[in-house]
Amino acid sequence: MSVVKKDVNFIKKYIEDEIKVIRERDPAIHSKWEVFLYSSFWAVLSYRLAHVFYEKKHFFLARLISQIARNRTGIEIHPGAKIGKGFFIDHGSGVVVGETTIIGNNVTLYQGVTLGGTGKEKGKRHPTLKDNVMVSVGAKVLGSFTIGENTKIGAGSVVLNEIPANCTVVGVPGKIVKYHNREIPRETMDQVHLPDPIQDDINNLKHADSEITNELLTLKDNIRELKSELRKIKGEEK
Ligand SMILES: CC(C)(COP(=O)(O)OP(=O)(O)OC[C@H]1O[C@@H](n2cnc3c(N)ncnc32)[C@H](O)[C@@H]1OP(=O)(O)O)[C@@H](O)C(=O)NCCC(=O)NCCS
Repeated sequence: MSVVKKDVNFIKKYIEDEIKVIRERDPAIHSKWEVFLYSSFWAVLSYRLAHVFYEKKHFFLARLISQIARNRTGIEIHPGAKIGKGFFIDHGSGVVVGETTIIGNNVTLYQGVTLGGTGKEKGKRHPTLKDNVMVSVGAKVLGSFTIGENTKIGAGSVVLNEIPANCTVVGVPGKIVKYHNREIPRETMDQVHLPDPIQDDINNLKHADSEITNELLTLKDNIRELKSELRKIKGEEK
C-alpha cells in the first residue's frame, strides 16, 4: 500500500513540476489543465518511463515506449539519453534527441531541433547540453561536444563544435555572435568569416608567445655578446 502511495505522490509531484515548467516557459498557456495537451508533457513522461527500463537493460520495452511516444507527439527521445529536471520542448514536432545525449537542468528545445551525431563518431556520439541552454526552432547540434551553461542557439543554426557558457550562436555552421551578453564587434565583420572570439583569443596568445620568444632570443644574443666582451677584457688584463 505504501509503495502505491509513494508512486502516486511521485506522479503527483511530477505533474506539478511539469505544470510549473510549462507555465514558466510558455506565455501561451492559460490554465494548468492545458498542460495535458502539450506534446512535451507526454513525450517527457514517456521518456522518463522508458529511461527506467533502459537503465534496467529492458532495451526493447524502452524503445517500444519511446516509439509509441514518437508516433503520438512527433518527439523522438532515445531512452538512453540522460536528461535533467525542468526539460521543456515547446510545440515539439520533429524533435530528435540521440542515445548518448546528456541534458542538464532547465533546458528548452523548440520544434525541429535535432541533438544528433555526425555519423563519424562511435561511443558518445551526441552533444552534452549544460543547464539553461536554449536551442531554437529548427537548430541542429551535431556531434559529441558540450554546449556551456546559459548558451542560446539561434533558429536554424547548425552547431558542429564546442560552445562555451553564456554565448549566443547563430548561422550555418554556428558561430558565436554574443558572449556574456556582449556583442562581438562587427566593424570588421564580413558575412563569410564570422567572428570567433575563441579563435581570436588563441591568435592573441600565439602573437604574445612569438613576441616573448623574439625578446628571449634578443636577450640571449645580448648575453652572448656581453660574455664575449667580458672574455676579451679579462684576456687583455692578463
Ligand atoms: C538567437 C536568439 C535566441 C536571440 O538571442 P540574443 O542573444 O538575444 O541575440 P540577438 O537577438 O541580440 O542577436 C544577435 C545577432 O544575431 C543575429 N541573429 C539572431 N538570431 C539569428 C538567427 N536565428 N540566425 C541568424 N542570425 C541571427 C541578430 O540579427 C543579431 O545580429 P546583429 O547584431 O548583426 O543585429 C533568437 O534570435 C532566436 O533565434 N530565437 C528563436 C526562438 C525560437 O525558436 N522561437 C520559436 C517560437 S515558436
